[in-house]
Amino acid sequence: MPLSKLSDAYPTDLSAWQELTAKLDTEMTDLQIRDLFQDDPQRFDNYSIQACDLFLDYSKNLVDDKTLSLLTKLATEAAVPDFIDAMFAGKKINSTEGRPVLHTALRATAADNVAPQVEGTGDVAETLAKMSGFVDGIQSGKITGTTGRPFTDIVNIGIGGSDLGVVMATRALRHYWKPGMEVHCVSNVDGTQLSDLSKQLDLETTLFVICSKTFTTAETMVNAKAARQWVEASLGKDAINQHFSACSTNHGAMDLFGINQEYRFEFWDWVGGRYSLWSAIGLSLALVVGADQFQALLHGGRRMDQHFRTAPIGENMPIMMALISIWYNNFYGASSQAILPYDNRLDRFPAFLQQLHMESSGKSVRRDGKPVQTATGTVIWGEPGSNAQHSFYQLLHQGTRLIPVDFILVKKSSGTQQGQQHLAISSCLAQAEALMDGYEPRMDEPHRRHPGNRPSNVILMPKLTPETLGQLIALYEHKVFVENTILGVNAFDQYGVELGKRLATTVLPAVTGDGEYKNQNLSTRGLLKRIKEML
Ligand code: F6P
Repeated sequence: MPLSKLSDAYPTDLSAWQELTAKLDTEMTDLQIRDLFQDDPQRFDNYSIQACDLFLDYSKNLVDDKTLSLLTKLATEAAVPDFIDAMFAGKKINSTEGRPVLHTALRATAADNVAPQVEGTGDVAETLAKMSGFVDGIQSGKITGTTGRPFTDIVNIGIGGSDLGVVMATRALRHYWKPGMEVHCVSNVDGTQLSDLSKQLDLETTLFVICSKTFTTAETMVNAKAARQWVEASLGKDAINQHFSACSTNHGAMDLFGINQEYRFEFWDWVGGRYSLWSAIGLSLALVVGADQFQALLHGGRRMDQHFRTAPIGENMPIMMALISIWYNNFYGASSQAILPYDNRLDRFPAFLQQLHMESSGKSVRRDGKPVQTATGTVIWGEPGSNAQHSFYQLLHQGTRLIPVDFILVKKSSGTQQGQQHLAISSCLAQAEALMDGYEPRMDEPHRRHPGNRPSNVILMPKLTPETLGQLIALYEHKVFVENTILGVNAFDQYGVELGKRLATTVLPAVTGDGEYKNQNLSTRGLLKRIKEML
């Protein structure tokens, strides 16, 4: 279908949306999830989906059969299947930047036929092979630093999508790291991360990986230059050639920086930053887990793509999660969602999802440039399970806000203590049950009351492996895409981050003392004065 023919309807004009609104007003006020289970003893089976190795239990939601059928109707009326086809066909669905959206091509095989006509998709396999050769060389010790010692430490320098996926996935797959190798990530502009590492690392055995799609991002460039100075001062200028690698679309900037041709890995403008872990941006991950495990991650993503492309709407896991999310953020007014993984290795998964969701959905303007008329940009937050129980679950259970939850539950521990994972599993199931069932205490103990009827999804997986992690990431990528498609928002641009970056360059001279602050903001002016006077 040509791009121009894709639906631009306001979701609020769709009959399913209107019927959902009417249903909410008339039938949902007294709805208790508990009662839904009583009415339908098969509810658990009817409200669950298996996709690849992931199992989604969405039975504990404020959704009955009629709501479910209206939500699936909403996806049909919003032409979600057409948009899915358009994405995989390489249509320029990132309309504001005039680009196709093809992170799926990074994990596809030729048989998947993902936009073969789009320039660059035919080069993916070659880049991956080059990456694998480099990874094997580093892991086997054939590629060494200038003094001939094998590399033991990888330092990823990048920010946003060039950092969060790497941090999240390297931590998630800690149990796959090659013994004796470590990975560290440097992102923030203030310099503290690199300064801490400088006390710990042996530069002779350290490889820096500069990750930046644009190779112009201020934070990354400042950190990369600081690292280069450090290497030059310790190992000499020539060492740059052997101690720096880079992943970018910007060859000119990599040339200027002095990146060895053999140590650079390209990707393409149709890969968005927050969708780029599958590209060369995943190099630091591949360097510690090995090329085969990186391939397994890609394979997991590909399997979820196949499910997403082929499963009918009502059995499609990413679509179902997107519909449930819209139901809460737009019909129930829930402005946030908690992501609670019960495997500490997934401790940075909520942070990764923050960028994926909020940079994609935090928009007030639709694809067609008109203002949105619905809520967008759910606030995503979370922490690993049992830590969070002892921190903010109080608010989930007894606070005044409705906060839908995604529990991510792993059956087998990726640590050594399976017995302890049993505790994690029972904690997770108990928390989901408590949220739904609540608790009625004696009349004179109102403070003990759990109102219950609080919704959650449980995503269950057998074990945290590269392949299941790939499935999990792709699941949420597609969920975000569908949610924004229905709301009429382009999930693939991020103009909202530009203004602050631009203003920082106008403030900097006043901070360093090299110039005057010329803007008119009186608060900034006052703060600059205070900073100058502060001892
Ligand atoms: O500031 C936001 C952003 O543009 C993200 O979208 C992106 O992931 C990040 O900056 C880093 O960009 P780059 O990879 O070009 O350094």
